[in-house]
Amino acid sequence: MPKIPMKTIKHVGVIGAGTMGRGIVEVMARQEIDVYLYDQDRSAVERAFVHIQNQLDKQVYRTKISEQQKMKMLAAIHPVDQLHAFHTCDLIIEAIMEEMSVKQQLFKALEKVVSTSCILATNTSSLSVTEIASVMQNPKRMLALHFFNPAPKMPLVEVVVGVHTDQNVAEEMKTWLKQTLLKEPVMVRDAPGFIVNRVARPFHTEAYRMVASGETSKTQVDKILQDAGFKMGPFQLQDLIGIDINYAASMSVYESFNHEPRLRPHPNQQKMLQSGLLGRKTKKGHYHYE
Ligand code: NAI
Repeated sequence: MPKIPMKTIKHVGVIGAGTMGRGIVEVMARQEIDVYLYDQDRSAVERAFVHIQNQLDKQVYRTKISEQQKMKMLAAIHPVDQLHAFHTCDLIIEAIMEEMSVKQQLFKALEKVVSTSCILATNTSSLSVTEIASVMQNPKRMLALHFFNPAPKMPLVEVVVGVHTDQNVAEEMKTWLKQTLLKEPVMVRDAPGFIVNRVARPFHTEAYRMVASGETSKTQVDKILQDAGFKMGPFQLQDLIGIDINYAASMSVYESFNHEPRLRPHPNQQKMLQSGLLGRKTKKGHYHYE
């Protein structure tokens, strides 16, 4: 694959207009980078646009940006309704549901429509980048750019290097994230949960266990951790992440470590998922939201 000079990353595609996709689009738009957004659910793209508009309105209200800057940022966002619209993109970031076969299918389809120099990235929380790329014709151009939630506010991005990822591609992405998006990228080899989601597993599972055994309550756990300096407690954070996404991350790490008991997700995590209590996105999770 030819070396891709950073200056050619002018058009970015984002697939999936949910919690993460809309945040990543906002990150690009704030730097006035042309960004194309696709979701299989058209209404999700419309909701994402309104959400970003509201976020930028708040920035104008707080005099962080001018009305003119806001309009320029919004003009950089291009909703699209088919994958073919990505043929001019230099980089595509996928932020769809956390399921291996669905992601693999998408990347296979993408390879047929994008240019040979287009870099392909997944925002997966915990799936193996190497496994996603295993179905691709050119896995060298594939890596994970793992943004955190909410993407416009969180500086950290894990740059996850799969077995076949070209090291030059990873290095260039790291530089671009730092210099152009003003993020704090960290390079990590493809491993279950990468860094953050691996370290965070006991944060979530131990909290579930303590509450289920009656030792304490959800609100108390959250309060104590906030008092100790965490921005959010585990239950507040799960509602923000999405119970479904967090459960998928727990299962992925548990399965990757051959069902090590210390990593076993708590049954209540699955119960919440089955009840459709997914957190902020469904307005009900551990807490209720208006
Ligand atoms: P979400 O459930 O909020 O949004 C997913 C979107 O993808 C939905 O709008 C859905 O319609 C769309 N979608 C699903 N399958 C599709 C397909 N085949 N083609 C096009 N669009 C499709 O999910 P969320 O939370 O934004 O997560 C997306 C990805 O980002 C996942 O891989 C997740 O693990 C990862 N992630 C999530 C974080 C979080 O805090 N929620 C943090 C970091 C990574």
